[in-house]
Amino acid sequence: MAAVDVERVENNLRTLKLSGRVGFDSLPDQLVSKSVQNGFIFNILCIGETGLGKSTLMDSLFNTSFESTPSPHTLPSVKLKAHTYELQESNVRLKLTIVDTVGYGDQINKEESYRAVVDYIDAQFEAYLQEELKIKRLLNNYHDTRTHICLYFICPTGHGLKSLDLVCMKKLDTKVNIVPIIAKADTISKTELQKFKSKIMQELTANGVEIYQFPIDDESVSEINSNMNSHVPFAVVGSTDFVRVGNKMTRTRQYPWGNVQVENETHCDFVKLREMLIRTNMEDMREKTHCKHYELYRKKRLEQMGFSDVDAENKPVSFQQTFEAKRNNHVQELQKKEDEMRQLFVVRVKEKEAELKEQERELQERFDKHKKAHAEEKKKLEEAKKKLEDDVIEFNRRKTQFSYHTMTLGKSKKK
Ligand code: GTP
Ligand code: MG
Repeated sequence: MAAVDVERVENNLRTLKLSGRVGFDSLPDQLVSKSVQNGFIFNILCIGETGLGKSTLMDSLFNTSFESTPSPHTLPSVKLKAHTYELQESNVRLKLTIVDTVGYGDQINKEESYRAVVDYIDAQFEAYLQEELKIKRLLNNYHDTRTHICLYFICPTGHGLKSLDLVCMKKLDTKVNIVPIIAKADTISKTELQKFKSKIMQELTANGVEIYQFPIDDESVSEINSNMNSHVPFAVVGSTDFVRVGNKMTRTRQYPWGNVQVENETHCDFVKLREMLIRTNMEDMREKTHCKHYELYRKKRLEQMGFSDVDAENKPVSFQQTFEAKRNNHVQELQKKEDEMRQLFVVRVKEKEAELKEQERELQERFDKHKKAHAEEKKKLEEAKKKLEDDVIEFNRRKTQFSYHTMTLGKSKKK
């Protein structure tokens, strides 16, 4: 019925001309004003080995100091640390969450290093899903912690990716927008860097790792984005030190042989990264997170819970039908379990009854045995008592007889 309605509406679709300005052309402005009023949320996950320059790069990207503390190399497992900051530029407010891996790649057995990261990303999706499934949802005020971008810091070895890098990125590529970057790129020479970049891209392709592509479907950014896609992985340098260049203080790393300026495009790709991440594609990454990665997570989770858009015969089935079928199943299962438990209970009671009867019988037997023994003992005692009494009587009789004899014998002697 609903499908027929839709068809009729679409067939009847007509384009009309307005005879004067109505005003709905202000909708985009209304949207902008609403978004500015609500503020924006952006969540970055930095994955990289300890001391690879994650915190320094974040400070450089947002041109502030997030005041992080260095992590030890001795942790038994990888942990994730999240910090949320409120930033404002002009009248635009940004709630920024930076999540850092602590102890990544420091364990001897690196097999499980990615597990904490995967769990963290899933946990954020799960929290959003649970909010979405509530009857009373507060999604407008909800602090969305889903990861919009994962900056994967590659160690500047010049040799290619480590197996941990590949395994981790492979595990994450369906869950988050991955942007690989070469950390501390000032430690690699110019010619080595080009080779290193193509080696990394080759290895990613060979292992089927899907990294985030800057979108080229929007005309206004397609040229710059397709150009930037060819520069990935960006080779970045970060610094918290400033040096005066002309009349401007710039982030710079000073070495005995010269200075590396973070924002100098001939020195590194920092500006490209900032341009792509913050100035051009932040909204696209937020959208992809919601429409692609979260959607996939949601689909899998709902399927796990037993929901589907089609039934076993591939016929469309509504959420309510699935829910009712599940509820009936559940009630039947409960009934089955209750019956089983009742039967089990009856069997147990019978067993216990038999056990008690057996115990009672044994007890009775023991009682009878003791009673018999007691009677025999009593009889024996009575016989012994009787014998003793007879003996006493006999003794007394003899005693009397003996005294009489002694008396008569004494009298006859006196005579
Ligand atoms: P943890 O949080 O402890 O894992 O470290 P991190 O990855 O946040 O690294 P952090 O930014 O604390 O930097 C570690 C060291 O590397 C510091 O001494 C930085 O000065 C230095 N460092 C940061 N970025 C760069 C860079 O681009 N090039 C070079 N050569 N050194 C850098
Ligand atoms: Mg740090």
